[in-house]
Amino acid sequence: MDFTKYIRDVEDFPQKGILFKDITPLLQNPEAMKSAMNGLLKMVEHQKIDKVVGMESRGFFFAPILAMRLNAGFVPVRKSGKLPADKISHTYVLEYGTDTLEMHSDSIQKGDKVLVHDDVLATGGTASATCELIENLGGIVVQCNFLIELDFLKGRNRLRPYKIASLLHY
Ligand code: PRP
Ligand code: MG
Repeated sequence: MDFTKYIRDVEDFPQKGILFKDITPLLQNPEAMKSAMNGLLKMVEHQKIDKVVGMESRGFFFAPILAMRLNAGFVPVRKSGKLPADKISHTYVLEYGTDTLEMHSDSIQKGDKVLVHDDVLATGGTASATCELIENLGGIVVQCNFLIELDFLKGRNRLRPYKIASLLHY
């Protein structure tokens, strides 16, 4: 099943000149979802994962399902001010603006093997901030796993110490 036809290009979003990869048609189609999910799972095959960390908002589409399938826990990384309990934060530069990411302090145990998942790797700011949060809590980043990698933004360079796997490249 070719799920790529369910990813739609939207011109000039969120700003003029940006071609946005919209995955909402894919989310609506169960067969496309299954196919994308199987591809994401294949990329982490044979690796023991304790926690899957997904980033708000679009990382939440796939990360909890991935966690369930890997028999791992799901941990949300949220934008500033959303998490209720004791947390750590990290400020980062994004493709369009800056933001702060937060994670609950008790969400990762020392030595936990962690899979990071987000829908898109663009400049790598979000993912590198997330890896930093995980390592601050003593977790080991086993892989950063994306549905889509925007090769021309070279986010991979920013994540150099980590293993990167992307299902689709544009
Ligand atoms: C988008 C995307 C990734 C991030 C990638 O999220 O979902 O999380 O940008 O960009 P980067 O590699 O340059 O950091 P965005 O912050 O736009 O918000 P959303 O997920 O809440 O829609
Ligand atoms: Mg996002």
